Amino acid sequence: MVMDSQLPPPAPADPRDPQADSRDSQADPHDPHGPHDSPPPLTERHFSLGDRRVRVLLGHDCLDDVAQALTGLDADRFVFVTDDTVQGVVASKLAGVVEQTAPALLLSHPPGEAHKNLATLSRFIDLSLDFKVTRRSVVVAVGGGIPGNIAGLLAGLLFRGIRLVHVPTTVIAACDSVISAKQAVNTAHAKNTVGLYHPPELIVVDFGVVAMGSPRDMRSGTCETVKNALAIDPGQIPTLRRLLRPRADYTASDLEEIFELSLAVKSRLLLEDPHEKYSGVLLEYGHTVGHALELASAAPGSGAVPVKHGEAVALGMAVAADVAHRLGALGADAVATHEELIERVGVCRCLTAGLDTETVMHHIGFDNKRGYEAHTSSDVPMVLLGALGVPLGLGQHYLTPVPRRAVRAAVDELLRRGRECDGGHDRGHDAHG
Ligand SMILES: NC(=O)c1ccc[n+]([C@@H]2O[C@H](COP(=O)([O-])OP(=O)(O)OC[C@H]3O[C@@H](n4cnc5c(N)ncnc54)[C@H](O)[C@@H]3O)[C@@H](O)[C@H]2O)c1
Ligand SMILES: [Zn+2]
Repeated sequence: MVMDSQLPPPAPADPRDPQADSRDSQADPHDPHGPHDSPPPLTERHFSLGDRRVRVLLGHDCLDDVAQALTGLDADRFVFVTDDTVQGVVASKLAGVVEQTAPALLLSHPPGEAHKNLATLSRFIDLSLDFKVTRRSVVVAVGGGIPGNIAGLLAGLLFRGIRLVHVPTTVIAACDSVISAKQAVNTAHAKNTVGLYHPPELIVVDFGVVAMGSPRDMRSGTCETVKNALAIDPGQIPTLRRLLRPRADYTASDLEEIFELSLAVKSRLLLEDPHEKYSGVLLEYGHTVGHALELASAAPGSGAVPVKHGEAVALGMAVAADVAHRLGALGADAVATHEELIERVGVCRCLTAGLDTETVMHHIGFDNKRGYEAHTSSDVPMVLLGALGVPLGLGQHYLTPVPRRAVRAAVDELLRRGRECDGGHDRGHDAHG
């Protein structure tokens, strides 16, 4: 299918079942679109984002059910937002089914952070308006967190907000970015600097599609669930010990269990803090150093392997635990649990090979948690733990001002261990695979 092309006009009247959107979990054996050779029914969940109750449908190999959920929204037009990889995997097929009931536009961008920007957004706004979207139209994000964020911003801006549906296809999108109202794109200055809050109307996850992602992307997404367990709900750690595998060769059912863990933690936090500014800042555990590792490794000419977001968060948690231990706040047992889970999830410190402490410290200076509370330039505001699931931190944002020299010492230690790793991976996995 041609990028940004309008799909053919809709087929003549295909009367829709008005109950389609409330028939939350039963596959319809008479559905003319579906294979339905005894598909398991969709599971329905909900969570709250401010005054919005978000419906979540979960299934395996259930694209026809996803399409049915979309057509049940009674939209006059659909705008699908995807990337060029996911377009071929699933988005074109989904748009093709849905456009039998209403005109559909498929907007696609090349994969990667470099395209999560205002230029892509502006082009998609123009194409959507050319397509004559109205307040009754629905934007459908199909893909990972990148098309998800672009679509979220597109839906939030068109007519000051039209309906948004997420069909996440990566672990990070399913378990993290779609369970949020935050939408943002990057600028030349930094990641996620221009955005707004716009909650989705509906989320539909086909774990059969999510399981098609690369092991490294699945590992990266799973790290966020590990973060939630360490920082917010250590009661999940035994389940994670059972589920986690360094090779990240997860089945669709494993991924659904991992999703349920994330949903439990995030929905609890979002209930009290839908804008993720207060207790929601705990979700940023590991991100202060994590973002810096991500940026430093992605810089042109860094000579390092670009570290993925979740991998960077895992390494950032190792640093946060080390810092808290050095400050006398976190016990050795809790530090060891960090090490153990980071090992089980399959993130190796050798990912930091080629990075230097100065560059990482430079990026830490631009962390987006600056400004929540007053701090001096010699401090780094970080989420730190006093015990598993117990944040330290003064004020309402759970941030601790940490002397830069303490952060520097822990970053030094991380990079030293990265250099010493022989890359042999006798743990039986390939950290870069
Ligand atoms: N609250 C929030 O808004 C929030 C939270 C977390 C992350 N994010 C954002 O999410 C982004 C990262 O998300 P991501 O890792 O999903 O990135 P992504 O969207 O780039 O997806 C990663 C890669 O996987 C490919 N892919 C997607 N689905 C696939 C499938 N089913 N099979 C095979 N390949 C597939 C994509 O083409 C891409 O190359 C970042 O920009 C981050 O800022 C936002
Ligand atoms: Zn994250």
